[in-house]
Amino acid sequence: MSSSLTVRRIAADQGATLRELRTASLRDAPYAFDETLEEALSEKAETFDAAAARYAESEAAATFILYTEGHPAGLIGAYFDETPEHKAFVCALWVAPAVRHLRGGELLVNTASVWLAEGGASEIHAWIADANRNAMRFYSALGFGPGGEHQPIARVPQEWQTLLVRSVKPGHTAPH
Ligand SMILES: CC(C)(COP(=O)(O)OP(=O)(O)OC[C@H]1O[C@@H](n2cnc3c(N)ncnc32)[C@H](O)[C@@H]1OP(=O)(O)O)[C@@H](O)C(=O)NCCC(=O)NCCS
Repeated sequence: MSSSLTVRRIAADQGATLRELRTASLRDAPYAFDETLEEALSEKAETFDAAAARYAESEAAATFILYTEGHPAGLIGAYFDETPEHKAFVCALWVAPAVRHLRGGELLVNTASVWLAEGGASEIHAWIADANRNAMRFYSALGFGPGGEHQPIARVPQEWQTLLVRSVKPGHTAPH
């Protein structure tokens, strides 16, 4: 992994950074996400400010930001869903094209996984569009396998997504 890449949890005052990364990811890879660029651009700045404040502090959801030489260059979301099992998910993963294949994606997934494991997760889930072969290969390389669920994507119901899952040790500081 390049030593110039670092990951930190978003800070409460980073709404503008969240908006910048989210819109950049939707411009670059619209096929990868449930939200559209138009939806993200129509959100008010206050919405991103409120989201950053929540993802900085919440025990149920977090955003982590990738930096290269101090500049934001990627992000990932992590959350526990509202089912009784509180299943743990990562989502909205994106690494800027200029810094791909430097293990930034791996660093983001592993940092988010550690946070979820510290919150009690023993398995980390991710929904991946079937058409997103790169993301499928990326998650497979990180040890994710089929999670047994397959369903249409709400935004484009003719396309499907697959649930992937990887084990982690609850409360431990590194995935295995
Ligand atoms: C998927 C994504 C986050 C990967 O980020 P990255 O920083 O380039 O990935 P890493 O460098 O950490 O890759 C780790 C390993 O995953 C695998 N991998 C990563 N990208 C891959 C690709 N395009 N094809 C095949 N394998 C890939 C490789 O094994 C890689 O190790 P290597 O580069 O030493 O061979 C990035 O390509 C991206 O942002 N894509 C667009 C958005 C997207 O699809 N997000 C996922 C939504 S579910």
